[in-house]
Amino acid sequence: MQRDCDQRDRWGQSAHNLGLLRTRLKQGLGLPARELDATLRIYCGMDQGRGPAVLVTGGAGYIGAHTAKALHSRGYTPVVYDNLSSGFRAAVQWGPLVEGDVADEERLVGVIGAHRVQAVIHFAGLIEVGRSVANPDLFWQVNVAATCSLLTAMRRCGVGRLVFSSSAAVYGQGGRGPMETIAEDAEKAPASPYGDTKHAAEWMIAAQCRAYGLTAVALRYFNAAGADPGGAIGEAHEPETHLIPLAISAALGDGKPLTVFGQDFDTPDGTCLRDYIHVTDLAAAHLAAVEAPFAPGVFEPLNLGTGHGRSVLEVVKAVERVAGRPARYSIGPRREGDPPSLVANPARAEKLLGWRAAHSSLDEIVADAMRWERGPRYGAGARQFRVRPRPSEVA
Ligand code: UFG
Repeated sequence: MQRDCDQRDRWGQSAHNLGLLRTRLKQGLGLPARELDATLRIYCGMDQGRGPAVLVTGGAGYIGAHTAKALHSRGYTPVVYDNLSSGFRAAVQWGPLVEGDVADEERLVGVIGAHRVQAVIHFAGLIEVGRSVANPDLFWQVNVAATCSLLTAMRRCGVGRLVFSSSAAVYGQGGRGPMETIAEDAEKAPASPYGDTKHAAEWMIAAQCRAYGLTAVALRYFNAAGADPGGAIGEAHEPETHLIPLAISAALGDGKPLTVFGQDFDTPDGTCLRDYIHVTDLAAAHLAAVEAPFAPGVFEPLNLGTGHGRSVLEVVKAVERVAGRPARYSIGPRREGDPPSLVANPARAEKLLGWRAAHSSLDEIVADAMRWERGPRYGAGARQFRVRPRPSEVA
């Protein structure tokens, strides 16, 4: 195939140079400080005053913004490519923002060439399970067809490394018992068109790895939660449907009480079990996936979770503990498409990426999420809660 821009093998070359550098450092390089610094910059491709560029599609969104921050802190230049349909301009703080749609292959080719992009992390996509049930065609267009455009643009430019934002939704409940953890080779039985499209996009990417030598990692997130401990970025969905922000709102805000969706599941307290993983742990895993020494042609799907399931009521209790006040909730009927239990077996990611969740205790997740929710910098009217008085403060 005729290449439209030449990024060929640059990533492989950088990785090779880094390997050489590590060896030389281990052997005791013995260079004067200034010379060592210059050598490091050349070896790492930072000789133009900035690190290698990584295209982050959907980088104005929740997990994308946290990953852009992690990339920047490691010396990369995150080039955020986002149509701002659900992301926030204010979340892009660590590199340039290019407004564009992933379906626009020509624009992607231009951006990859202009920024000398060397790897892509693809977050952009639709995530609302309920909306996917009502509007499956939209999800196939955005999550599958547009991903195909991105893959073609990468191939035209010779970019050979992709990290894809996938989901535990590819598993559904399948034939699993409620307390069983899920390994990557577990049965795939998506319970929604959202899960179907993530699964289909993985197949498409795997085929391109086999056919064209692309190296790709599909990271299957379990339940992303929490916020950057510094408070600059956090979770902001419109409308918000996720448990932790809604439970915090029920404890702190003057919003609606939480409805717990079902207490008749085959789980210890009857409510659904999920594996909540701190968004900064997810960001670290993306960095590890970008840098992992996988060979050309490898497609590696990896679960990102803690290996521990928490029930909805356990989450509510953690929120009450951290807030120091009760969360108003009632038990309602089940929500359509909710599997009783989704808990990762993260052993493969730990082995291949040298990664492990480090900030994902429920209390740390809730504390960081609550700090953000008390003063979000962007999002639905920067959801400022009018904090209800504690019961002890009421006369
Ligand atoms: N829940 C409630 N009340 C609410 C909201 C949620 O009881 O108001 C319950 C749900 O029934 C579920 C749990 O809280 O048992 C977590 O629900 P979330 O909506 O926070 O998250 P989901 O597990 O439905 O989905 C998330 C992502 C999906 C991803 C999935 C993978 O939103 O994109 O995790 O585990 F596919």
